[in-house]
Amino acid sequence: IMSVFRDVTQAVPVAVFKLSQDFNNDQDPNKVNLGVGAYRTDEGLPWVLPVVKKVEKVIAHDDRLNHEYLPILGLPQFRSWASKIALGAASPAVQEDRVGAVQCLGGTGALRIGAEFLRRFHNGSNNTKTPVYVSAPTWENHNAVFASSGFEDVRSYKYWDAQNRGLDLAGFLGDLETCPEHSIFVLHACAHNPTGTDPTQEQWMKIAEVMMRRRLFVFFDSAYQGFASGDLDKDAWAIRYFVSMGFEMFCAQSFSKNFGLYNERVGNLTIVARDPDNLQRVLSQMEKIVRTTWSNPPSQGARLVAITLSDPGLFEDWKANVKTMADRVLLMRAQLQAKLQALGTPGTWGHITQQIGMFSFTGLNPKQVEYMVKERHVYLMASGRINMCGLTTKNIDYVAQSIHATVTSVQ
Ligand SMILES: Cc1ncc(COP(=O)(O)O)c(C=O)c1O
Repeated sequence: IMSVFRDVTQAVPVAVFKLSQDFNNDQDPNKVNLGVGAYRTDEGLPWVLPVVKKVEKVIAHDDRLNHEYLPILGLPQFRSWASKIALGAASPAVQEDRVGAVQCLGGTGALRIGAEFLRRFHNGSNNTKTPVYVSAPTWENHNAVFASSGFEDVRSYKYWDAQNRGLDLAGFLGDLETCPEHSIFVLHACAHNPTGTDPTQEQWMKIAEVMMRRRLFVFFDSAYQGFASGDLDKDAWAIRYFVSMGFEMFCAQSFSKNFGLYNERVGNLTIVARDPDNLQRVLSQMEKIVRTTWSNPPSQGARLVAITLSDPGLFEDWKANVKTMADRVLLMRAQLQAKLQALGTPGTWGHITQQIGMFSFTGLNPKQVEYMVKERHVYLMASGRINMCGLTTKNIDYVAQSIHATVTSVQ
């Protein structure tokens, strides 16, 4: 008998996971993986943050905890502390009881729940035609998350100026000026993935001015708070500025990177509303969306984060752990740039240290990327994006030599 699945076509593998698989199958002793989107130590290993280890033991020994269902919207302490990390504990919006949150499965879950809500209720009900704008380029899942939530018109706004290896502010502002009113804009809060290039404060102010005047919806994606500058407050500057300007908005927060809790799926969707009444109605609908999506969220990651953020001593431990990760990225940036310059590698390499966060957009073109992978066994995304944490004291010379060999032999 024929299978009921006979007409199912084979889907294309997710690029970043496919790259890791190819890397694992590679037998070359010099191979390096610069593709993954996770932190690595100088030994090239995943890192369980010491503060997380400490709190895991606290949780294991706390006999008052159990495995009952959490509320549909998640652990209350987690939700409020997570929002305060983004907005600042002193935020007037928090004091005015117009900030709420939904505990979500990672930053992805927060984007998805937010997208689902917007499709149902923003700019009329079930308005699948409202344009959603994501940066060009962006984290590749942004497009798909909004499309899967029913939005039919996902577009790109100008962001990266390849020629000058920087922000295309004029292009960005132009798209904000000409897009339809009420369009939704996904903004990377800091440490833009994949370009490592953020607007300056003055540039954010211009962006906010147009967005306010044109009634555009602000949806921040904050997946790397702490990774841009090493300082949590500095990295939240853009979010806090938009809140201070009076925007109603969403902010999807991920604790995957800054807590190293990738597989615990701990994220938060912060909602800033005009007033408590609007907020409560929004939350009541969020509850309906979550109920049919995952019904109740998992507790371990949320507990770890809530306990850490609410205890002044643990909070200091965490900030120091985040700084350790951010500093290692900065060190690798400085060393890679210095090594390329010492080798006399053609091109300019200032962007390696000008860019911030976990990633660097090398400027290598697809042919050069292919050469890096095939001839040098250095794995990176087709866009030319490299994860700075994939570099270690041991492999950085080999990577610099590989980039040099690549740009001198492939144009
Ligand atoms: C820009 C951006 N947003 C969201 C996410 C999602 O993070 P999570 O793993 O918490 O779902 C990532 C992860 O790579 C990201 O880079």
